[in-house]
Amino acid sequence: MKEIQKYSTWVEVDLSAITNNIKQIKKEISGEVMAVVKANGYGHGAIQVAKAALAGGASWCGLARIEEALELRHARIDCPLLLFGWVPPRQIKYALLNDISLTVWDADQIKSIAKTASEYQKAARIHLKIDTGMGRLGSKPKDALQLAQIISETPELIFEGLYTHFARADEPLQPTTKKQHAILNHVLSEISSYQLRPQIIHAANSAASLTFPNASYQIVRFGIAMYGLHPSRECPLPDSYQPALQWKSVLSYVKTVPPDHGISYGHEYRTLRNERIGTIPIGYADGFRRTKGNQVLVNGKKVPVIGRVCMDQVMVQLDQVPQAKAGDEVVIIGKQDKAAISAEDLAKIWGTINYEVTCGIGARVPRIYNS
Ligand SMILES: Cc1ncc(COP(=O)(O)O)c(C=O)c1O
Repeated sequence: MKEIQKYSTWVEVDLSAITNNIKQIKKEISGEVMAVVKANGYGHGAIQVAKAALAGGASWCGLARIEEALELRHARIDCPLLLFGWVPPRQIKYALLNDISLTVWDADQIKSIAKTASEYQKAARIHLKIDTGMGRLGSKPKDALQLAQIISETPELIFEGLYTHFARADEPLQPTTKKQHAILNHVLSEISSYQLRPQIIHAANSAASLTFPNASYQIVRFGIAMYGLHPSRECPLPDSYQPALQWKSVLSYVKTVPPDHGISYGHEYRTLRNERIGTIPIGYADGFRRTKGNQVLVNGKKVPVIGRVCMDQVMVQLDQVPQAKAGDEVVIIGKQDKAAISAEDLAKIWGTINYEVTCGIGARVPRIYNS
């Protein structure tokens, strides 16, 4: 073996890329940046990404679940945190006690938060979410004024922010974002006329931050682009952004197999002649999907994954790299010599988006950080 590897498969995260990517967006917008680190920082590691983003000038972190926000607080990350998602009523007290801002969209929910705030004698920081067209969470635009009134009149609540989320900002030529923006502005002028506008308005995700500067308001919620991943094919990142994540493994075994030898469960692949077959200790339990057409990099070349992906292992055909031997590094996402496989390439093979590729890298895959 060329070198003894410490892990079977691992992710390398370049935290300086995260810091750089935040600095890039800070050049484009005048407001603040919220680093979206939900889902374990899109698979990169929430705590480390949050620290790198704050070092680059981000001032908020955005999360989906209370557990995620508490993980940051336990790591002594003390910037403002916003939860985008629903918080089970029994968990609201933890948000209040840890100064975590909550998203609300209906009157009952607001009442229940106020009740907890009164019990714990701790004011709740509230962001009212308006559904301007995403159809997920958010009050109807026509109810926004009434909800803003309730929040403002409830002494246990601090009306900190108001926001919406765009459904199609990653299709910059599509008119939906403009329509959603207009609806948000209508809500804002209505509540402003009653002096109810909160200090912080936000709407833009990565795609909108990059292509729709009118919607940047006081904060942009910056996720996929912070990781150096393209929001979509129609909304690619400028070259100044760098991907932070590489996913690697190693050839654990290389052998020559005679003709007509079945490879892996079901023998879907059979050798045609004497073939060099490599085994890699990565499988679907690591998030490497059971899809046909997978490829990885070995000795600077793309080689095909053959046969079915197993839970912990896959096999590759090594004809193109006759020198390959046990111990050689394998790249699943990243660069090797002049060859590269991006999260977007893998997403295409898997019939999904880059978000799902990195979020799906298994919990048992260690994340190694370079800064
Ligand atoms: C409410 C909200 N804001 C912002 C983001 C960040 O989006 P993106 O990763 O496209 O920047 C997300 C992610 O899904 C989100 O749910």
